[in-house]
Amino acid sequence: MNNSNNQNSNAFLPEGTRRDKGKDAQRLNILVAKAVSNSVKSTLGPRGMDKMLVNEMGDVTISNDGATILKEMAIEHPIGKMLVELAKNQDDEVGDGTTSAVIIAGGLVSKAENLLDENIHPSIIIKGYKMAAEKANNYFTEISENISISDKKALLDIATTSMTGKAAEYSSSLATIVVDAILKIANSKELDKEQIKIEQKIGGNLSDTKLIDGIVLDKEVVHSEMPKDISSAKILLLGTALEIKETETEAKIQITSPEQLQAFIDQEEEQLKEMVNQIVSTGANVLICQKGIDDLAQHYLAKAGVTAVRRVRLTDVERLAKATGAKIINRLKDATDKDLGTAQKVYSKKISGDDMLFVEGCPNPNYVTILLRGASEQTLSEADRTLTDAVGAVISSLKSGKFLAAGGSSEIDVALKLKNFAKTIGGREQLAIEAFAEVLEIIPKTLAESAGLDAIDTIVSLRSKHQDPNNRGYGVDVVNGTIADMKSKNIIEPLNVKTQAIISSTEVAELILRIDDIIAGQSGRGAPRMGPQDMADMWFFFLFF
Ligand SMILES: Nc1ncnc2c1ncn2[C@@H]1O[C@H](COP(=O)(O)OP(=O)(O)O)[C@@H](O)[C@H]1O
Ligand SMILES: [Mg+2]
Repeated sequence: MNNSNNQNSNAFLPEGTRRDKGKDAQRLNILVAKAVSNSVKSTLGPRGMDKMLVNEMGDVTISNDGATILKEMAIEHPIGKMLVELAKNQDDEVGDGTTSAVIIAGGLVSKAENLLDENIHPSIIIKGYKMAAEKANNYFTEISENISISDKKALLDIATTSMTGKAAEYSSSLATIVVDAILKIANSKELDKEQIKIEQKIGGNLSDTKLIDGIVLDKEVVHSEMPKDISSAKILLLGTALEIKETETEAKIQITSPEQLQAFIDQEEEQLKEMVNQIVSTGANVLICQKGIDDLAQHYLAKAGVTAVRRVRLTDVERLAKATGAKIINRLKDATDKDLGTAQKVYSKKISGDDMLFVEGCPNPNYVTILLRGASEQTLSEADRTLTDAVGAVISSLKSGKFLAAGGSSEIDVALKLKNFAKTIGGREQLAIEAFAEVLEIIPKTLAESAGLDAIDTIVSLRSKHQDPNNRGYGVDVVNGTIADMKSKNIIEPLNVKTQAIISSTEVAELILRIDDIIAGQSGRGAPRMGPQDMADMWFFFLFF
């Protein structure tokens, strides 16, 4: 931490560069990792607390989703960024379990600090952690049970567990919608969460949320005279603007007479008319445009009886391409009837006063939309995150084909097994494996605390329950504030959400422990800045939570 210590070794570095070496560097990084991980800890589980985040613009996010909180915190320290990345990764890979992954990473790093104090070399700790991670995942797999698309009840339980405590009283109806959505796309090979679009529309409440067999766009038809209800739709997807491009260089056009001006306008009109004619000649009756549509082009389209929407997001254009079989056109001149997609019906409907476009009955039925309703922006965005997690969890359970009892029960069971395994390892790695087991117990401990239970007592009783394999499902029932067999209560979660959290948190802990030298320029973006003032700021920040 002290610049003067390192002055000699800094001789070759530019003036003003900070250098922290060896233990100093490690301690600093551990401190940051612990602080970041602690900041999301209290959000874990159905009884977890929400965080309110306010950015410089005054926008408010209320969430108890680990990945969201970390993203909104805009952490600058590179170690903090690693944990943000970890949460994002977990989200991308398995769609749930982000808070758990960050808590485990923080725990691993924190326990490593104790081991470093006992003069155990980082490479021994890393080796022990890696052995433990591999074993842990084998144990998780051993105690998991099978699940498949035909187990609708179990899929509902997974969705419900992922949502408990989040969308409050509507979680069971939303869980049903999530599972229905997944059952609709279950026949597709990909089984990707992108196939389920969540479209938020303010108004009504969460119980008005509906599953739509197709794709819904929050877009109004551009011209009042265009048809609002089209059956046997033939859809053209346009990736470019239906406008006359402004010349890129500032070409000056000398217009000296009213006739010339008229000729110029006529020429533009002519070009737009031609573009519209090209669209009409393909036989399209619906145009979905990613960019803008000129007013005049709108007029010609309306006259030709073609319905159009504009400025549609690329992700939606891509979804529509897959669902309707349309090709995205980037050169209108090349468009033919073969590029069109189809849908049984395309119609515009008012939802809370705004027109939305529904594209239903697509040839590829593996694209659906959850039209999410809620009274406020905040309710909607938190419900959106909750639904996204639940979709991720159910898809994950189908991909791994396995589930575990929730409430920290699997962590307790695996921790016990790991401790036994540690005893069979002679070297100092044993200590790291034991530490790893203790880290797993942080999950049930945190859940116990969130339910107002005594963490130590709870862990002790769970450990004793788990001596008997028949009690493997025992975990923290946070809703009722007691320990219970979570399996028999149908509170279950996907296997790969657990195993992915172990893999990625162990990797991050390893990365952090391998660093023993921090060289930081005083200026420049992204450089690690962690002076005493920064630490003070950080504490202030965390007290806020
Ligand atoms: N009804 C429940 N009772 C006890 N624990 C539960 C219940 N539902 C979920 N959990 C536990 O809550 C944890 C997940 O909490 P969550 O806030 O979703 O964090 P994450 O971001 O890690 O998914 C898991 O350990 C899960 O087993
Ligand atoms: Mg979750």
